[in-house]
Order: sequence, then structure tokens, then C-alpha cells
Amino acid sequence: MRLPTAPAANAVKLRGDYSAANSDYVVEQSWDDYTPVEHALWARLLQRQFRLIQKYGAPQVLAGLKALHIADHVPRFDEASKVLRAATGWEIVAVPGLIPEQNFFAHLAKRHFPVTVWLRTPEEIDYLSEPDVFHDFFGHVPLLCDPVFGDFMQAYGEAGFKASAEGGLKMLARLYWYCVEFGLIKTEGGLRAYGAGILSSAGETVYCIENPSPHRIGFDLERVMRTDYLIDDYQKTYFVMDSFEQLFRNAYDRDFAPIYRAYRDTPGWAPDSIFPTDDVVTRGTQGAGAAGAAGVAR
Ligand SMILES: [Fe+2]
Repeated sequence: MRLPTAPAANAVKLRGDYSAANSDYVVEQSWDDYTPVEHALWARLLQRQFRLIQKYGAPQVLAGLKALHIADHVPRFDEASKVLRAATGWEIVAVPGLIPEQNFFAHLAKRHFPVTVWLRTPEEIDYLSEPDVFHDFFGHVPLLCDPVFGDFMQAYGEAGFKASAEGGLKMLARLYWYCVEFGLIKTEGGLRAYGAGILSSAGETVYCIENPSPHRIGFDLERVMRTDYLIDDYQKTYFVMDSFEQLFRNAYDRDFAPIYRAYRDTPGWAPDSIFPTDDVVTRGTQGAGAAGAAGVAR
């Protein structure tokens, strides 16, 4: 899965139909157009992940899924938005797929979360190169019911504009990758997953908690912003939050500009790096090769 990025800026053929999108890249969900095959596939994906995240998912994710009344069919965005508005003031906007990052930041800053309308095919149940409605909805929307995480996501959107001006987009993208898509959080029961890239992947949901290969390192803003990541394999390092308050405070109280200026022109650290200054939760063996990624579904 790639980060939200400009279809116009990338010579990549994207699957969505952008012809009906407005200037903010918003479309109608057209829920009645989903087929029985698509609803059945959603149900298969949901049942598999729901079972796994009972054990591996963060409690805030489980609470969000319950509040949204997630069911065995593709969700209606308007109904989910009613729940979100009442809980945290967020709402869903339907989009054709990946959108330009400036539009993505603008939506987040207004508490509008863009969710792709199309669903993968049955043949893609275990692997997908673009985010679909299952990734965007199941992976991202439940946490928007959490007030602190919701505040962080709005702050992230606002930070996007400043990062563009300071040449810090690459570093800000690393924060999104490690703390929105692939984040872990400490709980009384042990580490749990909350990142959307994890929650929408059956294989990585188990791997990120159980496998001895990856490093698991306590969150540090500069450390995260300076660390490169893998886009087509399981992560070699996961960063662990103490709480969503810690994440929000780092985004809201800190000025990222000095970090951008200090490091924007230096190469990122390798994804499997580990340093004496790291708050190591578990030091990985780094034994999993590319084969470990078989079955990534994002
Ligand atoms: Fe995502």
C-alpha cells in the first residue's frame, strides 16, 4: 500500500474512476451498486480480521468497531459518519482511491476522512497494491471514534501544509507510515496493533505481535521521522506508543520545522536499524526474508 499521493504526479495506473470526482476528489459512494459478490467478500474479510483482532487489536479499535455496528456487508458511509460525528466530529468522504497529498491533508484538517469506494476482487483477498474500501474503512475508521486519536489525525492534516513549505513531506510521511499504518500500542495485556496496514492484513496482524524477526522500539518522534520503511514487505521495525495521548502531544505541541531543517537532506536510516539510544521493547532477529510477506493484504 502506498501513502496517499497524487495520481497526477505518478505515472501509475490507479484503479478508481476519477472522472466523477469533484475538485476535492470526493465522489458518491453509490452503495446500491455493490454486488452480492462484493458484499460476500467483505464478509469474508471482516470475519477473518475480526477474529484475529480480538486477540491482537488495540482495545480502542475494538470499541470503534462496536460503535460503528460493522456488519457482514460493505458499510454505508453516511451511516458510519453519523456515528463518527456524534463521537468525535469526524465524517467519511468517499473518494475514487489515492488522492493528491494536499487534498488528503485538507480533508484531515477538516475532520473528513477519505475512504476509497471500490473493493478488491476475490482473487486479491490476500494481496492488494492500492488501498480499497476494506483497508480504508476497517483499518482506519474505527480509531476515528477515539477522541485522542481523532485529534491527532486532524493535527496531522494541519502539519501536512507546514511540511510542504519546509520540505518535510518525506519525514512526515514516515510518521504516518509508522504511527498510523503500522503502529503498536502498549496495553495491560501486552502489545496490541492499531495501525490500519496491520489491521487489514491477516498475516501482518499475527506477525507484528508474535514473530521474533522485527524490532519493536518505543516511539520517539525524531527516530520515526528519520527511519525509512518498506512498502511491499512486512515491517522490519514497529514503533510502540505508550498511549494515543503521547502521539497527539508529539504532533500538537512540537514544532516539526527544526527537525525537517536538520535532517531533510540526509539519507534515512535503514528499516532494520537499531541504536544504543533506542528504547528497545523487543530486539528482533531480523530473520524473516521477503518470503515473510506472502499474503500481505492492505
Ligand atoms: Fe491506509
